[in-house]
Amino acid sequence: MDKKFYVTTPIYYVNDKPHIGHAYTTILADVLARFHRSAGDATFFLTGTDEHGQKVQRAAEKNSLDCQQHCDETVVRFQELWKTLGITNDRFIRTTDAFHKEVVSKVLQDLYDRDLIYKAEYTGWYCVGDERFFTEKDLVDGKCPECGREVTEIVESNYFFRMSKYQQWLIEYIESHPDFILPRFRANETLGFLRRPLEDLCISRPKSRLAWGIELPFDKDYVCYVWFDALLNYASGVGYLQNDEDFKKWWPASCQLIGKDILTTHTVYWTTMLKAMELPLPKTIFAHGWWLTGKTKMSKSLGNVVNPMDMIERCGVDAFRYFLLAEMSPGSDASFTEEAFINRYNSDLANDLGNLASRVLKMALRSCNGTIPQPHTMLNEDKALLALADKALETMENSLNSMALDAGIAAVMDVVRSGNKYFEAAAPWTLAKNGDTQRLETVIYTAAEAMRRVAVLLDPVMPGKMKDLRDMLGMDPALPATLESLHDHSNVLSGKAVQDRAGLFMRIQVEEPAAACAKKPEKKADKAVNTIAPEELIDIAEFGKVQLKTAKVLAAEPVEGADKLLKLQIAVGNEKRQLIAGVAKYYTPEAMVGKTIIIVANLKPAVIRGVESAGMLLAAKAGKKLQLLTVDGEIASGASIG
Ligand code: ME8
Ligand code: MG
Repeated sequence: MDKKFYVTTPIYYVNDKPHIGHAYTTILADVLARFHRSAGDATFFLTGTDEHGQKVQRAAEKNSLDCQQHCDETVVRFQELWKTLGITNDRFIRTTDAFHKEVVSKVLQDLYDRDLIYKAEYTGWYCVGDERFFTEKDLVDGKCPECGREVTEIVESNYFFRMSKYQQWLIEYIESHPDFILPRFRANETLGFLRRPLEDLCISRPKSRLAWGIELPFDKDYVCYVWFDALLNYASGVGYLQNDEDFKKWWPASCQLIGKDILTTHTVYWTTMLKAMELPLPKTIFAHGWWLTGKTKMSKSLGNVVNPMDMIERCGVDAFRYFLLAEMSPGSDASFTEEAFINRYNSDLANDLGNLASRVLKMALRSCNGTIPQPHTMLNEDKALLALADKALETMENSLNSMALDAGIAAVMDVVRSGNKYFEAAAPWTLAKNGDTQRLETVIYTAAEAMRRVAVLLDPVMPGKMKDLRDMLGMDPALPATLESLHDHSNVLSGKAVQDRAGLFMRIQVEEPAAACAKKPEKKADKAVNTIAPEELIDIAEFGKVQLKTAKVLAAEPVEGADKLLKLQIAVGNEKRQLIAGVAKYYTPEAMVGKTIIIVANLKPAVIRGVESAGMLLAAKAGKKLQLLTVDGEIASGASIG
């Protein structure tokens, strides 16, 4: 890792309150900042709000507020949410801060003086929602190419930044710096954009049309285009043109996190601005995917947002942070549903992590006088569990560099699940009963040590709960909870007094089955082949409820008045059943008799066309073809499948 780490989030518009999309980027930045701080890197984490421009002016008008007043009221919602979420930003910048306005003004003047900004007449198409101008050829069916909304034709004099002159330079820069835009396929997207001629960027708005912005220092009739103003926050926020020492210390940024919605403004506008300002480019611009509601982007303008506060109230801050980071592979989109949230919470946190912690602590309390014992001879299974924890450390360290924190988290959860299996297999309760003290102590120690590693590895993700867990394990709060400390394998737990506390993660009780409150999954036919939406995934416990068995067809006959159905008499072991199957169009009754089929044996009996049916047979269907599922060779009926 670098010895310096400067991370930024986009500065969010104050046109409405934050939703989980904003929370995600900010939590991701926070987790990175925490990891780097704990690695001893000099770390600076900047976030803030974007307060000028048409969107904000419109929102203020709607609320019958003066623009500044509107900003002052809305910004609090962001600041409070970040406080609730435990966000450790070093500075919160607002583009209406006086120092920022001064910096923007200086940059404008400097570029104007160097003829990098000029005045010209301009005809363009403007999308109010996106605050972007487009040329005629940018439009898609006469509409905004970004959001598909109506655009307005505008002819006016404006000021332009000579962005076009940097096109070739930018292409070469991106091509020669593989870590500059990540994930890699986003770099290709920018390169694709740069295949067409790059135009100069309109950086002004006449006050007659939009007054809410930073006035151009060389023309009082205009304000600065909101994006030009906003992007400069990344420099003004660390002292640019105000505190040279600070600026030298932090710039260039190590990692600028953005959502894929603002890729071009960052990889093209911002980078060419920096070039014109003769500043180095950030090391990495990382564009993550979108949180979706169903299949559409969660967005304020679409009104389908999930309010983070609702989820936090229900499950706590740490679980919320955990869910967002564990659920999204940052290159791709992810879908937020309450059901997915509750399922992941219950399975990962309550069942796996919470359960392991409580088992280890209970055994230590019950059989080891409430202290973590000394280990004795370590067997292969003990070593294997700790080796898995070493591997998780390695994965976490790698995932920090690629921003793939979900992979790091998955590796840690693997340790937790293996820890539970280890505990079951080692059966310390039996060791205690049989007086096998040495083995018992080794097992309790090993499981506790695995828990300690987990509590350190997940500390930046769940700072509150992982501190609780370390306290429960009796760890000295002064001991470093850093990744670095995990490379040292010395025994720091033995002899520590564990604390008996309430469970780490309480299960969320769902009144109705979780599936009932979730939206019905959309029909498979609407989807790309083989894709399974995250909300459709089930865990092993859910699958485990389905009892599949082999059955032998003893007799078969048509069902009167139903040309698709056959009535089957089947044997499931010693049990005889009747089952109705929709296979009459594909199998004659004769063809069915004697077959070994596969049935769902614990399906609630139902009456179909007046005939009782106990179970359901499995068949594969593609288009007009249907084939029964059967077994590969002879096997008794009633055999279980899984
Ligand atoms: O674009 N999924 O502000 P903004 C994931 N002010 N992330 C999301 C998201 C979603 N559905 N919705 C928002 C702006 N985000 C400008 C930025 S920067 C100089 C100026 C996150 O309020 C994501 O990080 O529309 C996205 O890029 C950002 O919020 C946009 O926030
Ligand atoms: Mg937006």
